[in-house]
Amino acid sequence: MRNIIGQAVSGSDFFERPQIIQKIHRALRNGNQVYLSAPRRVGKTSIMNYLQDNPETNQHYVYAITQSIDTTSTFYQEIARQVLESPSFGKLTKASETLKKITKNLLQHITIKVSIPFVELSTEKGQAINFQIELEKLLEELDLEGGKLIIMVDEFTETLDNILIKDGKQEARRFLQTFRELMHNRKLTHKVQFLLTGSIGLQPLVKKLEGSDLINQLLVIDIPPLTEDEACSLFRRLIQADGIEITDETIRSILQKIDWLMPFHVQLLVQEVIDVFESLGNPIDEGKAKQAFEQVFHQRNRIYFEQYYERLKKRLEPGSEYNFVHEVLNRVAQTDSLEKAIVHDLAVKNNFSASYKATMESLQYDGYLHETADNQGYRFNSSILKTWWKKYVS
Ligand SMILES: Nc1ncnc2c1ncn2[C@@H]1O[C@H](COP(=O)(O)OP(=O)(O)OP(=O)(O)O)[C@@H](O)[C@H]1O
Ligand SMILES: [Mg+2]
Repeated sequence: MRNIIGQAVSGSDFFERPQIIQKIHRALRNGNQVYLSAPRRVGKTSIMNYLQDNPETNQHYVYAITQSIDTTSTFYQEIARQVLESPSFGKLTKASETLKKITKNLLQHITIKVSIPFVELSTEKGQAINFQIELEKLLEELDLEGGKLIIMVDEFTETLDNILIKDGKQEARRFLQTFRELMHNRKLTHKVQFLLTGSIGLQPLVKKLEGSDLINQLLVIDIPPLTEDEACSLFRRLIQADGIEITDETIRSILQKIDWLMPFHVQLLVQEVIDVFESLGNPIDEGKAKQAFEQVFHQRNRIYFEQYYERLKKRLEPGSEYNFVHEVLNRVAQTDSLEKAIVHDLAVKNNFSASYKATMESLQYDGYLHETADNQGYRFNSSILKTWWKKYVS
């Protein structure tokens, strides 16, 4: 298993997470439309890669990433492109005349990388088309012989957010409305399902649009952190090839420092343990392990954390919301937990009391904070994020 930091993994580099995979499979088998909810860098894309590479019988996956898409029309165009390019589409054994016609029409507006055996490419430029309608017709006409097409849309929530930023609330609501109609199309429910992801919270965003009714059909599945046992075994797999001597006790003691055991954080730690091993040799005792943990915050790892921050920056309203969030995170970073009453005071101080609760909810979905066990305050999710915030942002 290679230590691939920052990029989604597949094949033997994927540390198997059978519980979450089974949960998704079960939800899909039961006919649900699924929303995989997790902050940045938690492993959504890697999980989708795994699903695509390991389909259950009669499942055909299509993967689309729509992170930079900011219009309703290009969203459906992209989904149509991915369906047309998917291996299952190329291998269809039954293609009706209607399906051939729809495909041909779409291909006059979408360039794809593969050839489709049952249609000849035409160079004609067709009339303008409505991609949403054409995609729906295409899916309705598909004969999967009892199989299911599972369309995975990675960063769906980003698309919604992009549309909101670019064209406003009404257009964002219209986008959600069209998508809801597609998911509910009775001619499709027995053969097409959706698996969506987002690394910004869908619920707070939709609340802002007053559109909670538009997503209430989605089954939300969270991706939990690794257990300590899982993280320990991932750690061992990642150092396997390096001949590093380290006891389970030492591994566990540095994992406990991480707090929030996401594969990404384990990867960063392993990178630094290997670095310490290369300069100081075996065995990696508590002292060297501690040094490795400190090195995670080295300047060279800054790029990995900037990505969390970029997204936060992009979505905060300049002025009161931005100032409020910075002050809250600065304060939480300084203490173990910050009382809700103080958060409220900070909202008042920054003229942000009317909507601060939604912003606090977003910070939780974004993976920064969680509520303390007694519900009286907030803590950083991860001591790694906390230290990084203290060192580079506050
Ligand atoms: N199951 C896993 N096995 C090994 N590495 C993993 C696993 N899940 C995630 N990772 C690692 O964690 C990091 C984030 O993974 P991935 O890109 O899949 O997450 P993501 O949630 O899609 O992130 P983003 O929100 O940035 O798109 C990567 O460095 C990846 O290598
Ligand atoms: Mg991803």
